[in-house]
Amino acid sequence: MNQPSVTPASYSDTVVRQFSLMAVVWGVVGMLVGVFIAAQLAWPELNFGIPWLSYGRLRPLHTNAVIFAFGGSALIATSYWVVQRTSQVTLFAPKLASFTFWGYQAVIVAAAISLPLGYTSGKEYAELEWPIDILLALVWVAYAIVFFGTIGTRKVKHIYVANWFYGSFIIAVALLHIVNSAALPTGLMKSYSAYAGVQDAMVQWWYGHNAVGFFLTAGFLGMMYYFIPKQAERPVYSYRLSIVHFWALIFTYMWAGPHHLHYTALPDWTQSVGMIFSLILLAPSWGGMINGIMTLSGAWHKLRDDPVLRFLIVSLSFYGMSTFEGPMMSIKTVNALSHYTDWTVGHVHSGALGWVGLISMGSLYYLIPRLFGQKKMYSVKAIEVHFWTATIGIVLYIAAMWIAGVMQGLMWRAINGDGTLTYTFVESVKATYPFYVIRVLGGLLYLGGMILMAWNTWMTVANGRAVRFSVPAAVAHA
Ligand code: HEM
Ligand code: HEM
Repeated sequence: MNQPSVTPASYSDTVVRQFSLMAVVWGVVGMLVGVFIAAQLAWPELNFGIPWLSYGRLRPLHTNAVIFAFGGSALIATSYWVVQRTSQVTLFAPKLASFTFWGYQAVIVAAAISLPLGYTSGKEYAELEWPIDILLALVWVAYAIVFFGTIGTRKVKHIYVANWFYGSFIIAVALLHIVNSAALPTGLMKSYSAYAGVQDAMVQWWYGHNAVGFFLTAGFLGMMYYFIPKQAERPVYSYRLSIVHFWALIFTYMWAGPHHLHYTALPDWTQSVGMIFSLILLAPSWGGMINGIMTLSGAWHKLRDDPVLRFLIVSLSFYGMSTFEGPMMSIKTVNALSHYTDWTVGHVHSGALGWVGLISMGSLYYLIPRLFGQKKMYSVKAIEVHFWTATIGIVLYIAAMWIAGVMQGLMWRAINGDGTLTYTFVESVKATYPFYVIRVLGGLLYLGGMILMAWNTWMTVANGRAVRFSVPAAVAHA
């Protein structure tokens, strides 16, 4: 008897393709601005006297472009890929998913125009003015509906751990964005925070720190838990540890924000709570790192000839490094030295370039050929070169900032026998100059690697075609 032919449903990957490609594009743009502002710190005349090229306007453009445009696009792309595969269903509400792409890109373009024009709410990592904030809130709610709708309609009973991390990232970012952006508009592009004084600072750094915890960490751990086992072709080292990791991490992060406000008007006990939770945070962070790295057990040899795996695993070493450094910097006496110095900037970039950057690049190198029907990227050699330029670039960047930071801290606190300052501030600026030049060099290498990735992506897409992956009819384990 003839069976009726049924066309199997296919995964909604158009939106994954769109976000993946834009992640590469925004990576190049954001890092280019990073190199430019790094050069301005060494050679201030590079602002050419043009207001919209001034450091104060381009710095938030850099942070927004790398964190939200590059990192955000990579996170949304991978989350849409992962949630479909691990749930074995197509995306819930694909039209809404398409809205998340166009809406998110509209937010990025609005940021890229309004920040250089000088429109800002003045809150770090939350600089966008209220109309753009509202659009972002709408996009984020749509993203939550698509993601959790897909989980809700899954064909697999179990919810794979990567989805827990992505899910917590989506919920926490919605909460942080909506609470911290509460403001009174007084014009189309002008508003005042709903909070005042020290409360405003506390809300801002509750937001700022959890932006690190949930945007720059939890979402990327979702990537880690899916793409490392896939690329290594090994199961997660300990699934039980991944669950402990999840709950310990999300519980602890929420309390650590006050470490950004040591020695301020914030009550002293609040600062101590922030410090203690930051110290505790070392444990879940390292638990997660160990779980990721040990997934390679029995497959270490793959690191030798698989540059994609190398991106993924080395990102975890930087994750371990920055989550060791962070708790140390949260100790009040250490923070008394590090705060206001380039040590903080070094810490930021060991996390941002080493962890966020490398894990995103590794995951995109896994995704892009598959999304365009290719076995591998156009040039594996170029991935190899990218890996080394990026790694050397990071080392130059962070080593220069560590030395500069500790040096600045020590120079500022040095006093003579009669109680006067040993150094003037400008002497510390002068002493920092060579390190700023080294950072430009490191940044150029890192950017060079990203440009190579963009070329490699272009060639892979040009030689490929968009493919449709069928949703499996029979339910297997995720
Ligand atoms: C080519 C690569 C990059 C270069 C050259 C670069 C350069 C810079 C510079 C010069 C600053 C300002 C530092 C200061 O104000 O003293 C900065 C800030 C920052 N960058 Fe980058 N950056 C790069 C990539 C990235 C990436 C990929 C991320 C995130 C994923 C990132 C995240 C940040 C953050 C969060 C800050 C603010 C730091 C703070 O307030 O302490 N950067 N970057
Ligand atoms: C256990 C984990 C971590 C802890 C306890 C921690 C702690 C800290 C501390 C104490 C500061 C300095 C605050 C100040 O003096 O102003 C800081 C700054 C920062 N950290 Fe971390 N950190 C951790 C992990 C990370 C990771 C993985 C990233 C990036 C991916 C990151 C990104 C940042 C950023 C962007 C800032 C600068 C904020 C600003 O002033 O603009 N941190 N962190």
